Amino acid sequence: MDIEAAYRQFLEARFEAYAQSLRFSELRKGVQALSTFYVQERRRLGGSKIFSSLGKRAAFELYYAPRHFYLIREILQGLGTPTPPGRLLDLGCGNGICSAAWASLLPRTPRIMARDISAHAIAQAKVLYRSLGLKANVARASLLKTPEVRAGDMLVLGFVVNELADAERQSLKRLLLNRSRKGMGFLLVEPLAKSPSRWWEEWVEAFPKEKIRQDMWKFEVDLPAAVLDLGEAAGLRPRHLGARSLYVKL
Ligand SMILES: C[S@@+](CC[C@H](N)C(=O)[O-])C[C@H]1O[C@@H](n2cnc3c(N)ncnc32)[C@H](O)[C@@H]1O
Repeated sequence: MDIEAAYRQFLEARFEAYAQSLRFSELRKGVQALSTFYVQERRRLGGSKIFSSLGKRAAFELYYAPRHFYLIREILQGLGTPTPPGRLLDLGCGNGICSAAWASLLPRTPRIMARDISAHAIAQAKVLYRSLGLKANVARASLLKTPEVRAGDMLVLGFVVNELADAERQSLKRLLLNRSRKGMGFLLVEPLAKSPSRWWEEWVEAFPKEKIRQDMWKFEVDLPAAVLDLGEAAGLRPRHLGARSLYVKL
């Protein structure tokens, strides 16, 4: 079975599992609470705040993670589906969605390394990779403690860089600059904000022009029906996906 089909099945099973302990109205409230977080506290979500209750954890896994999965696939296709010859490192991996989405587009499954500061996220990522048949080295660590990368490795940073404090973000930029000189590439994805973050412009300037590409994306995507129902019940527009990305090629 392909990875995308396996992910749909996985998601169905997770909807059923959460239904044992949460009513649909609680799930909907969890989605609304996270949506408020994203809109009002975008600058500093503070790492694991989004996983602070069962309702929010469920909302993230059943609503935001699937949207990120399909969004990352669309973005990668828009970038010509880059195929990393080395490993895929998923930093701030959350449930492991971004690397799983990338793997779902590749002819051969990549070796994945995933890091996150949240114990909950790490546990979730392990379950996801196992369910999709992906081999992954998953550990709890800050993205600033990224393992030594080799030429040909690709990093994916989904919706995490905006969450960092300024000093952490500066350190990460230096780290990525250093690693990209050694033959590593990365894809960074963040929400479409009304006005671009100041750090975004600095990052675009920092990387060599011939290597970096920035994009703004908007897609209308057919998500699994249960995800659409949940988003619509929460008063959101679940079909509409948008993001900005920075891609530094190998
Ligand atoms: C909004 S979630 C995104 C998760 C996933 N990348 C996705 O796109 O669905 C942000 C994640 O970054 C993690 N995170 C925040 N600060 C981090 C840090 N300094 N090092 C590693 N992970 C971090 C959080 O724990 C959370 O799982």
